[in-house]
Amino acid sequence: MAREITTVGVVGIGTMGAGITEVFARNGFFVVGVEQDQAALHRGRGHVETSTGRAVRRGKMSAAEQSQLLERITFTTDMDVLAACQLVVEAVPEHRDLKRDVFARLDKIVTPDAILATNTSSLSVTEISVATELPRRVVGMHFFNPAPVQEFVEVVRTVVTDDDVVEDVTAIARRLGKAPVECRDRAGFIANALLFGYLNHAASMYETRYASREDIDDAMRVGCGYPMGPLALLDLIGLDTAYEILETMYRQGRDRLHAPTPILKQLVTAGFRGRKSGRGFYTYDKPDSPVVVADTATPTGAPPAGVREVRSVGVVGSSDPAARIVENLVQARFDVTTVDVVTPAVTGADLVVEAVADELSAKREVFTALDAVCKPGAILATTSSLVPVIACAASTSRAANVVGTHMVAGVAVDRDLVEVVRTVSTADDVVATVRSVCRRAGMHPVTCGDRAGFIVNALLFPYLNDAVKMLEAQYATADDIDTAMRLGCRLPTGPFQVLDDVGLDTALAIQRMLYAEFPEPGYAPAPLLENLVTAGFLGRKTGRGFRDHA
Ligand code: 3HC
Repeated sequence: MAREITTVGVVGIGTMGAGITEVFARNGFFVVGVEQDQAALHRGRGHVETSTGRAVRRGKMSAAEQSQLLERITFTTDMDVLAACQLVVEAVPEHRDLKRDVFARLDKIVTPDAILATNTSSLSVTEISVATELPRRVVGMHFFNPAPVQEFVEVVRTVVTDDDVVEDVTAIARRLGKAPVECRDRAGFIANALLFGYLNHAASMYETRYASREDIDDAMRVGCGYPMGPLALLDLIGLDTAYEILETMYRQGRDRLHAPTPILKQLVTAGFRGRKSGRGFYTYDKPDSPVVVADTATPTGAPPAGVREVRSVGVVGSSDPAARIVENLVQARFDVTTVDVVTPAVTGADLVVEAVADELSAKREVFTALDAVCKPGAILATTSSLVPVIACAASTSRAANVVGTHMVAGVAVDRDLVEVVRTVSTADDVVATVRSVCRRAGMHPVTCGDRAGFIVNALLFPYLNDAVKMLEAQYATADDIDTAMRLGCRLPTGPFQVLDDVGLDTALAIQRMLYAEFPEPGYAPAPLLENLVTAGFLGRKTGRGFRDHA
C-alpha cells in the first residue's frame, strides 16, 4: 500500500533545496528545511521568502497564502526534527562523501519505512544508498532549477531500490505538478547527460574567444528559442555545481567533451560561482540576483568605427535563407536586386549575399564570378553553413571583403539570427558593416570565427547526436528524452522533434562536418542516425524519422 506522505524533509536549502522546499510547501506538504548553521538557514529562508514574495507581487499568490505556505515550513539546524518526515530529500552540495555522511545520519533518524531521496545531479545514487542500512529505500529525486518553475523530475532507481519506493516518489512528483520520468543510475541521468556537454562546449567557445559571451548566449536564444543562453544558464546553475557535474560525468564516461573547461575551475577558484555569488560569466547587481549589470566585458553599444555605407544589396540564389533575407532587406527599404545566377545586374551593389546550394564547387564558382563583376570595394557574403567561408574568400581577389552571413530563422522570437563569420582575412570594417546592415534589416547579428558549425550548429548538433546515442543505448525512450529537455530546461522542442523537423540527413551532414574538423570520439555520428538516413527515414519530409508523421 502506498505510503501516506504529509511531512517532507529537505536537507540543504541552498539554490536547489530552497526551490524544492517551496515546491512541497506550495502543494500543501509540511516541510522541515535543515541547514548546518544559522547563516545558511537564514539565507535558505530568504530564498523561499523572495521567491514567494515575487509570486505575490505578480498576483500569482495572495499575501495570506504566502504566510500559510511559510507557516508550513519549519526551518531548523537540528537534523533530529526530520524524525517526523515520511520522505526526506537531500540537496547538499555535489560531494560524494558529504552526501554519504548525510544519508548515514538520516538513516538513524527517520523511521524504517521513510523514503530517503537524493537530488544529486550526477553522483551515483547507489554509492550514496549503501551508506545506509536500508539501501532499498533510497532513490534519486532530481529536480531542475528553478525547481518551482521546471515541470520535470527524474526518479532514479538503483539496482536495490524497492518498487514501492519508486512508485511513491513518482506519485509524489505528480502531486507536485511535475512530469516524472524513471531512469537508471547513470551519471547525469537523462537531462544533465545531454545538457552539460553543450554547456561545457559553450564555455570553451568563450574561453577561446571564439565569440563573446553575449553573442554565444544570443545565438542560442534567438536562433533556437532557448529561454536563456548557455553561459547565463551556467551562472544560474552555479559554476561550482556545473564543475562537479562535469567532473563526475567525465570520470564515469571518460568522454573528453565532458572534461570541465578550465575557465570553470578558474572562475570557481576566484569565488565567481555564478548568480549565487553575484558574479560568474556575467556580473549581477548582488548575490542571488538575476539582474545583470555592465562590467568591463560588456559591449558599449556605441556604433563601431568604419561602418561602410550600404544602400544596394544583391542576392544570388533562391535557397530558403535567400527568400527570408530578401524579405527582411526589402522591409528595411534597402535597394535589393535578386538574381538566380551571377549577372551584371549586381555590378553596382554595395553588398552581395550569395545563397546558392551549400556545396563547395557551386560556391567557388559563384564567388569567382562575383569577384569579376562586382565593383571594387563591394562586400561579398555567403550564407554557407557547411562550406568554410575562407574557401569562398580564396576564390576571389578580395578576401578582406568576404564574410559569412549564416542565417538561422528565429525560433519562438520575432527576429532572425545572422552569424556574421569572420575569416582570417576578413577586414574589421566589413564585419562592422554587415552587423549594421543586419540590425537595420531587423535581424540579430552575432560574430564568430570561421569554424565548422559556427556557434549554433556547433552547439546544437552534438547535443542532438548525443540524444540519438542515448536512445540507441536504450537508456531512455525518445518521448522521455524529449520530455526531459522540454520540461526540465524549457527548450521549445525536444531533440527528436528537432531532428525530425530539421531532417535527419541535414543533421548527419552537419555532424559529419563537425567530426571531420574536430575529430573527438564523442562527435562521431550516432550509428542509429546513419542507419535511419541510409534507410531513407529522413524525418517529417519523408513521413518517417524518429517518429511516424504519416
Ligand atoms: N525561483 C522561483 N520562480 C522563478 C525563479 C526562481 N529562481 N525564476 C523565475 N521564476 C518564475 C517567475 O516567478 C515566473 O513565474 P510566473 O510565470 O508564475 O510569473 C516564471 O518563473 C518566469 O520568470 P521570469 O518571467 O522572471 O523570467 P523568464 O521567463 O526569463 O524565465 C527562467 C526565467 C525560468 C529561469 C527561464 O529562463 C528558464 O526556464 N531557463 C532555463 C533554465 C534551465 O534550463 N534549468 C535547468 C538547468 S539544469 C538543472 O537544474 C539540473 C541541475 O542538476 C543542475
